[in-house]
Amino acid sequence: MAWPDRSSNSNRLFERAQRVLPGGISRLQTLVEPFPIYAGTGRGSTLVDVDGVERIDFMNNFASLIHGHAHPEVLSAVHAAVDNGSCFSMPTEREIQMAELITGRITRVEKIRFCNSGTEAVMLAIKAARARTGRPCIAKIEGAYHGMYDYAEVSLDSSPDDWGDVPSARPYTFGTPAGVLDETTVIPFNDVTVAERLLTECGDRLAAVLIDPAPLSCGLVPLNDEYTAMLHRVTRKLGALLILDEVIAYRLDYHGAQSRFGIQADLTTFAKIIGGGFPVGAVGGTEDAMSVFSHAHGKPLNASSGTFTANPVSVAAGLRTLELLDHKAYQDLEQLGAYARQVCVDAFARSGFKGQVTGIGSMFHLHLHDRPVSDYRTFFPKEDEAAAIKRIHLKLLTTGFILAPKLAGFLSTVNTHQQLDLFGESLERILAEE
Ligand SMILES: Cc1ncc(COP(=O)(O)O)c(C=O)c1O
Repeated sequence: MAWPDRSSNSNRLFERAQRVLPGGISRLQTLVEPFPIYAGTGRGSTLVDVDGVERIDFMNNFASLIHGHAHPEVLSAVHAAVDNGSCFSMPTEREIQMAELITGRITRVEKIRFCNSGTEAVMLAIKAARARTGRPCIAKIEGAYHGMYDYAEVSLDSSPDDWGDVPSARPYTFGTPAGVLDETTVIPFNDVTVAERLLTECGDRLAAVLIDPAPLSCGLVPLNDEYTAMLHRVTRKLGALLILDEVIAYRLDYHGAQSRFGIQADLTTFAKIIGGGFPVGAVGGTEDAMSVFSHAHGKPLNASSGTFTANPVSVAAGLRTLELLDHKAYQDLEQLGAYARQVCVDAFARSGFKGQVTGIGSMFHLHLHDRPVSDYRTFFPKEDEAAAIKRIHLKLLTTGFILAPKLAGFLSTVNTHQQLDLFGESLERILAEE
């Protein structure tokens, strides 16, 4: 029996898991109703679950597998690395190669410091900005996800019940200290006037503005040029740093999303694709901003460490992954993403369902309404839409397609036009039933 049948292997595993893991899971994103699907094996663009059901994977471990599952060249780099020992109390040459590769591709990443996750990268970037400026406050976009660091998760799930006329700092985790909210300013995405006013009010307390150039929680819609100009204007005027979160967005351009959107970032965070399927994170930036990590003049202004930092296996996998991700691969991904969005447009039109698709590059996001989407509030689904999103996600899973639960896709270089055609046919049928 297959998921979501109660006698499936996935359900048996979930029952076992609930006895030892809180809620039966290790990460919130794996939770789908009525219970998670347990992975068996992944090969290329498909994933086979523990009940033997094969699905086409458009989620790619939340945007991290840019070449799909078990890419042979990445695997052989991993095998070669792990055969020599998985981690050491000494640095390795490969971390230098990886740093050379990324600094060679992204102009404003002159130096880079590795860590183990995007959460850690964002935390390090925020601490670096505080250390560089001697200031306490950060600003972030309402609803934007940047991992689990206290300051970065403020106002992550603001809702119409509590968001007020203008964004303000709302706790996400129970028990968030008041000090965290006091030192975090929340700004709207793509609204120049309100964001500029809120940032200006921070004055000389502002250490940095943290932005994702196309946040998932804003429908993967990119920031507009006026907004970028405003961010440059305000940060320069106030003497604050600009932190660009490219944890997902680095998949948008060989030279970084910052090149694509003309963003002059002081610090940039990375994770996901740069680990080639293994845990990784990194913060890079200008010589000046990154100087806080250096011990050249004694204790660093921002000391950073970590037992598994620049782990040789993650770095080997990431290095091979980025080598394979050449200009041509980026162009192909761009084209495949445009095709995916067109497939969705056609499915909406043929089914007669009033919806839309947003996104950029290799990413797409479905919405079950036709209101314009430009930020978190316009993205936020109404109650009936949220229920329909859940239903459609489940139906897509049962017909063989893996998307992020809110109906977003992050394509890999091994996803194909043919897979997208099949997806379009399924989507059309499912939408027509709604
Ligand atoms: C934009 C962004 N920043 C940071 C993170 C946190 O990364 P990690 O899950 O590696 O901690 C994520 C994770 O999805 C993300 O999407």
